[in-house]
Amino acid sequence: MKRREFVKDLIVTSGAEFIGFSQANLGKKTHTISNSREVPLLPWGYVELDPEEAMKRGYLGFLVSECSAGCFLAITSLLREKKGYPYTLLPLPTFEEMVAARKAHKHLPLPMKYGHVGIEGYGTICGTLNGAACAIEWAVGPKLGKKIIRRLFRWYEETAFPTPLTNGYAVNHKFPVKGKWDKPLPSVRCNSVLCHVVVSKWCSLAGYASGSKQRSERCGRITADVARQAVILLNAALKGELEKVFPFKVSNETASCRTCHLKGKKFEQGNFSRGFIACESCHVEDIKAHVKAAPLPTAFGTNLGTWMGAAAIGTVAGIGAHLVATNIGRKGGNDER
Ligand code: HEC
Ligand code: HEC
Repeated sequence: MKRREFVKDLIVTSGAEFIGFSQANLGKKTHTISNSREVPLLPWGYVELDPEEAMKRGYLGFLVSECSAGCFLAITSLLREKKGYPYTLLPLPTFEEMVAARKAHKHLPLPMKYGHVGIEGYGTICGTLNGAACAIEWAVGPKLGKKIIRRLFRWYEETAFPTPLTNGYAVNHKFPVKGKWDKPLPSVRCNSVLCHVVVSKWCSLAGYASGSKQRSERCGRITADVARQAVILLNAALKGELEKVFPFKVSNETASCRTCHLKGKKFEQGNFSRGFIACESCHVEDIKAHVKAAPLPTAFGTNLGTWMGAAAIGTVAGIGAHLVATNIGRKGGNDER
């Protein structure tokens, strides 16, 4: 390309403001632009939202961009309407555009679409939780966000989905658009936050194939359920009532396991693991192995029968009974601040 043609091309593509700039100047100008910040840093703030509206929008969001984007959009698009700037900067469609897309059976390229089916079909974290968690932290920042997100995850483990509420909305056509199926679906409590686990458990118990419209509809209703609960928790946090509205309590098994298996420096005592996830959903055999003859009372009312854990492991790993007791006396759930 001749130099003159190249410059002409630049002027056409980058607009009139560059006319008269040499190539060197163009480079400098570009640098200045990319180095300035026009969008405010996070968090962007939160105002009270209506959980029912979030629920409806989550359902619609699922139908136009799947579970993860659906939950993200449910919260952030409402904040754009109720709070305005800076949420007006997000690349989100209007409510009317979403409804039109659904009616045309079109998918929209929304933020966090990648999160669907446990991140691009991989089956890890449920997309609804991924999308909601991002919106939550976006709004309130990591310190408060962490408290809300952990509660949302724990609530998800404990809840049978889809809930009677979203089942009812679908059956009675109370969502803004038609879904994929309008009969009630079985509610199943899966005790997991993982897409693979909850989809497989639900499908096998409910008797629907993973590629069925009923399975897809299930995920749509759950997107609505999770968006609603996220807003309930955000509202509670806004009023300083988070612990009252949803006290954070991990499963009894997790509380027990975490007397030893928690983030810490004492490797030989079991500090080579971390997390609040429901341990019992996977470690069935390990629980059996840790549980043997000697009963071990815990501060958490654990109902695991008896533990060989403290006694035998304690001996093997050189943990004395006193130390085990001290660990067990400590409250679970507070170390990873
Ligand atoms: C009293 C402390 C203590 C408690 C409570 C405890 N563990 Fe352990 N656990 C250990 C220690 C120490 C080891 C490593 C020593 C060993 O492998 O025997 C271990 C090993 C394990 C392993 C590795 C298994 C293996 O055979 O190598 C798994 C998995 C595990 N624990 C899961 C759990 C789960 C799940 C729970 C809760 C149901 C739990 N543990 C409760 C201390 C504990
Ligand atoms: C989704 C399933 C799942 C959940 C839930 C889960 N784990 Fe695990 N965990 C695994 C797998 C898989 C491994 C790797 C096992 C292996 O390869 O031997 C593992 C490894 C471990 C190990 C090390 C085992 C070893 O071989 O040394 C410990 C300890 C452990 N988990 C404790 C826990 C505790 C405590 C919880 C609850 C806070 C928990 N796990 C929740 C699946 C799970």
